[in-house]
Amino acid sequence: MKLTTKLLAATALISAGAVSTAANAVELEVTHWWTSGGEAAAVAELAKAFDASGDTWVDGAIAGGGDVARPIMVSRILGGDPMGAFQFNHGRQAEELIEAGVLQDLTSVAEAGNWREIIRPISLLDACTVDGKVYCAPVNIHSWQWMWLSNKAFADAGVPVPTNWDEFVAAAPALEAAGKIPLAMGQQSWQSSGAFGVMAVAIAGQDAYLAVNRDKDEAVAAGPEYAKVFEAAANARAMAANSNVQDWNQATNLVITGAAGGQIMGDWAQGEFAVAGQTAGVDYTCLPGLGVNKILDTGGDAFYFPVNSDPEITAAQLRLAALLVSPEVQVAFNLKKGSLPIRADVDLNAANDCMKQGLAILDSGAILPSGTQLLSPDTATQINDLMVEFWNDPAITAGDAQARYAAIIAAAD
Ligand code: BGC
Repeated sequence: MKLTTKLLAATALISAGAVSTAANAVELEVTHWWTSGGEAAAVAELAKAFDASGDTWVDGAIAGGGDVARPIMVSRILGGDPMGAFQFNHGRQAEELIEAGVLQDLTSVAEAGNWREIIRPISLLDACTVDGKVYCAPVNIHSWQWMWLSNKAFADAGVPVPTNWDEFVAAAPALEAAGKIPLAMGQQSWQSSGAFGVMAVAIAGQDAYLAVNRDKDEAVAAGPEYAKVFEAAANARAMAANSNVQDWNQATNLVITGAAGGQIMGDWAQGEFAVAGQTAGVDYTCLPGLGVNKILDTGGDAFYFPVNSDPEITAAQLRLAALLVSPEVQVAFNLKKGSLPIRADVDLNAANDCMKQGLAILDSGAILPSGTQLLSPDTATQINDLMVEFWNDPAITAGDAQARYAAIIAAAD
């Protein structure tokens, strides 16, 4: 009798547990702009982990890249149709949403998970923090400071794979003679803008980059070091003239197939090489800092969570925030994404050669804040617009573009 009572009680407890898990399991719509092959493989790891934890990831991918996706996300949030979570670049993109009070405060999760002790570099958490409250969960460190080279393209052209930007420029005629596009470049405006930023760090140097992007020093933007960057960009424009692709991953594909010599692109390009079954050092070569300055900017992605009146959604948002920073998710996601984890206490032995180079640079402390951390979205958009115009129109001289650039920096906040 006693045993039966106990059993009954245990059964009741188990079913109560089951019922409460089911009642608390929440479908959370997560929006992001990860739609390329490598990106889809990476985001699938996040969905898998969230689903395994009992909730359901409802994928809200938006095609067309961040510049297309972000305004859609913002209008949904401000228009009263918020998703459960969304990806932005960590940095200044969410400033206005935080100010408007529409984003969930994650401070309790950050404190429970000791984010201040584990997240590196701490600038990532600082970029999520406003007035002492944490509003985002950083998921990775992505750096723009890379060039990706096709070993096949250089073999076909009969020249060695370059080890730095100057060698790449010198090899361009041989690539062209072999029917290759020296430099792959897509049409989304952030691509030419990002490539320009990488050239600025390599050619004008870190101090000039910070003077312009952090201190908004118009004189440096208009000065001789940046003049060299604009000359290099005009030259790169000529090398990219026959690319004829739109999306960044189509440009990466030109490198993967050996139709192009190289691409200046952030380390998310690694996801594409991985999906194509290519091996770093064998099929392709990576040059951090264009082989000139081994340095990384520490941009990347973070998840934000719109305030929701449903407490069950809020609870699921906090569960997802904690999960994204967890060691297991950090390893599974970043290995596929080509990005570096935001915590040092995880095992990345499975990383490829390029990621290992990235980790070594990060550990050496040779890091820079990214453009998304330094520039307001408005300034970034103006620079993107200028750059895509410049890259598409050979009639715009390096000098004209520099003057317009310096004016944007002079007016930047
Ligand atoms: C994001 C990356 C993404 C890339 C291309 C960047 O802004 O940080 O995660 O892969 O855009 O879509």
